[in-house]
Amino acid sequence: MTTSVESVETYTRTPVVDTLKTENIGKIVRLCGWVRTRRDSKGGFSFIEVNDGSTFNSVQVLAENTLPNYENEVLKLGIGSSIEVIGSIVESPGKGQTTEVKAQSLKVFGYADPATYPLQKKGTSMEFLRTISHLRPRTNTFGAVARVRNEICKSIHNFFQSRGFVYVHTPIITGSDAEGAGQMFKVTTLDLDKLPRTPDGAIDFEQDFFGKATNLTVSGQLQGEMYATALSNIYTFGPTFRAENSNTSRHLSEFWMIEPEMAFCDLEGNMQCAEEFLKTIFNDVLTNCPVDMNFFNERIEKTTIETLKHICDSAFIRISYTEAVDILLKSGETFEFPVSWGIDLQSEHERYLTEKKFKKPVIVYDYPKDIKAFYMRLNEDGKTVRAMDVLVPKIGEIIGGSQREERLDKLEERMKACHLDPEEYGAYLDLRRFGTVPHAGFGLGLERTVQFVTGMGNIRDVIPFPRAPKTADF
Ligand code: 4AD
Ligand code: MG
Repeated sequence: MTTSVESVETYTRTPVVDTLKTENIGKIVRLCGWVRTRRDSKGGFSFIEVNDGSTFNSVQVLAENTLPNYENEVLKLGIGSSIEVIGSIVESPGKGQTTEVKAQSLKVFGYADPATYPLQKKGTSMEFLRTISHLRPRTNTFGAVARVRNEICKSIHNFFQSRGFVYVHTPIITGSDAEGAGQMFKVTTLDLDKLPRTPDGAIDFEQDFFGKATNLTVSGQLQGEMYATALSNIYTFGPTFRAENSNTSRHLSEFWMIEPEMAFCDLEGNMQCAEEFLKTIFNDVLTNCPVDMNFFNERIEKTTIETLKHICDSAFIRISYTEAVDILLKSGETFEFPVSWGIDLQSEHERYLTEKKFKKPVIVYDYPKDIKAFYMRLNEDGKTVRAMDVLVPKIGEIIGGSQREERLDKLEERMKACHLDPEEYGAYLDLRRFGTVPHAGFGLGLERTVQFVTGMGNIRDVIPFPRAPKTADF
């Protein structure tokens, strides 16, 4: 089907991804994007590679010297310039592409000065690209990361929506500490130079904006439980904030977390849900992002596709914390942090289990109560809680979750042992006073998921604008 140039409406645009399809040969299109390269031929024409982020690949535009602005404008186009081309999709005689766009007109929106445009050279380092987070989405790698991250988010919503979970928005500003770990960013409008004091010298938060001390949320779980104990199955998906001073390739100060919470569910059901959830995400990315995933597999991490396929096809390993410690003790490995029952598993231990011992995801459950949060259900042994962590190769912990303590007396005891004031958690305790039910849930870190799927080495490169200690640019 051929349309005439006159019928091309300027509020519509054909994305590059569609100009690459042979079924569109013969169509007249309005193509817009940023120049990746320009090659001039002695025969009086130029090839311009145009990318618009709609797919990994660029489309080749053929611009002939019969264009009225060929000498004055087309020959000035360099990497980063933005253009509009109206032209027809034709079969490409050249190697490496099946279609190209033959320009009937070419308009320049804006040039990019080659002397100052920072993305001139190929193979610029990830560290350098982090200093230009506003331009790095124009690179192959960061475009691919953005599309895969988007696909993962779509898959997450689909997974829960298709199972009847209700998407609940939990607050970003909160007065409670969901993890009881005190790693929170304070939210205040008090004048830091003139802090109001109470008679005993403490900061008088009654004079603050909310009339009390508030912080950015570390997790939506507690509020999630409030909705799960009414709507049964819910999930949250939002930003969370942690003021832990961890300068690692797996920690961010601001990251996105997905937290399902299920009433009438125990740890077994929680593990089942987590396993199905991860497999669905990996499968969706492999199915729907083949071009981007091939790039990651070739250029970033040679085993990523194989690893994801293998995970989708086999069952996760499930071992108790006590069994995990036993395996580590018998491993014959020398770890930097020595292993004994009661320690918090370090990333080196987690990686030994998933990378060396089992070579697949491992769910470790029933952790010692002293290294886990106050809300986890106490086991009969009085020493361990119904916690679970899902560990994956290279990343270590990707999911943390638990069956929740639904018994009022036990929960109050645990809070006191953790030096938390039950008065401050009155609403949370009400859930145990009025129609309490067994329930369970977990949190998946979105960035660790994107990191795992793409094979990107540093978590700061899988979120558009990373926040980490001493880092809050853009
Ligand atoms: O294990 P965490 O701390 O669990 C919770 O917050 C629970 N409230 C979840 C729940 O049961 N509803 O965090 C969950 C996940 C981790 O497994 C990890 O993937 C990610 O969140 N995560 C981080 N990701 C990036 N940077 C950090 N600083 C992270 N801390 C946790
Ligand atoms: Mg955890």
